Amino acid sequence: MPEEAFPLLPPYRIKVVEPIPFLTAGQRREAYAAAGYNPFNLRADQITVDLLSDSGTGATSSAQEAAAARGDESYAGARSWFPFRDEVRDLTGYPHVLPVHQGRAAERIVFSTILRPGQICLSNTHFDTTHANVELAGAEARDLPTPRALDLDSDDPFKGDVDLDALERTLAGPDGERVGLVLMTITNNGLGAQPVSMANLTAASELCRRYRVPFWLDAARFAENAWLVREREPGYADLSPREIATRAFQLADGCVISLKKDGLAPVGGVIGVRDPDIFATCEANLIATEGFSTYGGLAGHDLERLAVGLREVVDEDYLRSRAASTARLARLINEAGVDTVQPAGIHALYLNAGRLLPHLDPGRFPGHALASQLYLTGGIRCAELGSLYLGELNDDHQLVRPAPFELVRLAIPRRVYTEAHLEYVARTLGEIAKQPDQVPGYRITAAPRVLRHFKVRLEPAV
Ligand code: F0G
Repeated sequence: MPEEAFPLLPPYRIKVVEPIPFLTAGQRREAYAAAGYNPFNLRADQITVDLLSDSGTGATSSAQEAAAARGDESYAGARSWFPFRDEVRDLTGYPHVLPVHQGRAAERIVFSTILRPGQICLSNTHFDTTHANVELAGAEARDLPTPRALDLDSDDPFKGDVDLDALERTLAGPDGERVGLVLMTITNNGLGAQPVSMANLTAASELCRRYRVPFWLDAARFAENAWLVREREPGYADLSPREIATRAFQLADGCVISLKKDGLAPVGGVIGVRDPDIFATCEANLIATEGFSTYGGLAGHDLERLAVGLREVVDEDYLRSRAASTARLARLINEAGVDTVQPAGIHALYLNAGRLLPHLDPGRFPGHALASQLYLTGGIRCAELGSLYLGELNDDHQLVRPAPFELVRLAIPRRVYTEAHLEYVARTLGEIAKQPDQVPGYRITAAPRVLRHFKVRLEPAV
């Protein structure tokens, strides 16, 4: 089998292409200064390789576009709703399905239904919008990642796990009464794109059952988690990625999913739930805020693309080549002299900027400095996950509490870039790694109070 012998071989060829610009170094310098040295302010037509997010940025297939042409845009009971609903039911095993326009809408609706003010939501790691939506519901979002995740260099296969001891201690301790939800993020996007093992999900699910706490999945990358389980966890090699994903869903009471990732479509999300009462409350909220229950803020053509995408994403040849491609990029980057969080996940690589740029203290934002240099040197866009995003600042924008690590995330859109684009990324990093002490730090010139990293403006601190 060629795909077994050569795992990088993608099971598709390219049919529609989109031009990408090559700017001169001078044009990039000008564009980045005008953007306030913040990659979120760049225009897409100023970017050569865009690794800012794997969300909504994937390529669709000819089968998805053919289905989209059949999209039925009826207000209620559209024909396009049924294949979507059936696909989600079949994949998750949950009887009740509600479409939403993206993941955070699902979070808002579910958390405002399940959580009461003063309660606690526990997670392996909340994604940032998830954290924000827990707090908007008046509850506290508390992360309990496995301590094994703190060793960025170890080869531990499941650093996305929840810390089971801490979970049980919290459930059994004085805060136990206040725990309103346990939410497992698969894969753990906030913590190095690391997968969660089925053993960990099973144990967490049992604890929740014992302490009578709802157990839900934030399953934005359910297929990629399933693939890594199959590759890394004993006992799963003979199951299909789809069977593994279904087993994960079966351990939970419900799920929120951003379908902009493993739905292989530009937009979409879904709520799946067992309990009819929770479903009814969520449905009322959905109709009031997103749209009627058979479209939930999506167009019929979106539902059609998603129904097909949910099948394509669990294709073994697709997952094998995507995982091999990310692993190869990690190897090339490491060989070029830049460390990444180990082992490589699938949807993103996390560069250890703190280690590459020791001349910059956290207050000069080494993660942001490396992300900026990737744009200035190579037109590559990505964003830091370090003190600029996660640190605490005083009113003068000075860092008073740094983040635990200074990382940069290279998120890899699905089915979009060829190996040549990714080699270019590794080569650019190699150029930067030859003279890391030439990379300048940054200082903040203006920052909003909330969701700082999106709108912050900076300048080089030279
Ligand atoms: N949960 C996880 C784990 C996510 O990674 C995201 C989005 C969401 C929920 C929210 O979904 O964007 O559809 O509303 N992550 C994107 C990213 C934005 O770049 O990692 P959404």
